[in-house]
Amino acid sequence: MPADSKTKKTILTLNNNKKNGKPTVLVTAYDYPQARIADMADVDCILIGDSLGMTTLGHKTTIPVTMDDMIRSSEAVCRGSNNAFVIGDMPYMSYQPSNQIAVENAGRFIVAGCDMVKVEGAMTERIKAICDSGIMVMSHLGLTPHTRAKLGGYKVQGKTAEQAEIVLKQALALQDAGCSALLLEAMPKEPATMIAEELDIPVYGIGAGDGVDGQLVIFHDLMGLFWEFKSKFVKRYCEAGQIMEKALEEYVQEVREGKFPTEENFYEIKEEELEKLLGDSKWKYETDKGFPTNHSATPNTVTEKK
Ligand code: KIV
Repeated sequence: MPADSKTKKTILTLNNNKKNGKPTVLVTAYDYPQARIADMADVDCILIGDSLGMTTLGHKTTIPVTMDDMIRSSEAVCRGSNNAFVIGDMPYMSYQPSNQIAVENAGRFIVAGCDMVKVEGAMTERIKAICDSGIMVMSHLGLTPHTRAKLGGYKVQGKTAEQAEIVLKQALALQDAGCSALLLEAMPKEPATMIAEELDIPVYGIGAGDGVDGQLVIFHDLMGLFWEFKSKFVKRYCEAGQIMEKALEEYVQEVREGKFPTEENFYEIKEEELEKLLGDSKWKYETDKGFPTNHSATPNTVTEKK
């Protein structure tokens, strides 16, 4: 494994950002080019989210995502990112069954190159086991898609004082269990800000207002590459899907009209090799268009002699 670059962000960067009131920027990525782009744009953290199930694999939820899906994606992202701090998202049933399974699967993310793992829900015992094994954990509270059925669907959390109190208690327990960071999903700004102020560890938000220590956005939401639905907290920074579609339409048209490929896209063959080819009786050439004119035969299409 190559040594970390000198500019690589670490947990110290994240902690210092919190201390200095500098917002940390997080984005998801699921493959090598996305990680390269995120890294070049100087994001602080990349999360290989199990949202990959929806953004990349076309599932309706994150539930079918497997450890193997996540590890393949994590390896590619880690190869593409030199500077960003990389967090691997533990998929459904990769941590719930036992402490041992949780630690083993967390370890697979670290072997893949991740710096930290993310675990959904107030699974204090599992999270403590992972932290005790020396692996850093980001906990994920608020709207937790793995337990969305229990929450009554994809609903904003912490909207009542009682609910917000529960999330705060869970957050404090997770910090005590050894978590290095916390992510709050889909919560009103005020309780999320209070939690961020109460905790010593960095508290990030996705749809949790601007009072937390940093923001996470899903790559495909930000880029305009996800069309199934758009959450209130999403801001599209470009319509990459439309740009790609337009490019593909142009390609389709040019191929059909014979405008692509052109000379500049062709590989060359040496004159003498072409002579040999033309002189070989095994081949028969049609001579209507497109071949060098200094040859006796000027074939365009090649057909095998009968
Ligand atoms: O999988 C993911 O990208 C996530 C975010 C929605 C928080 O868990």
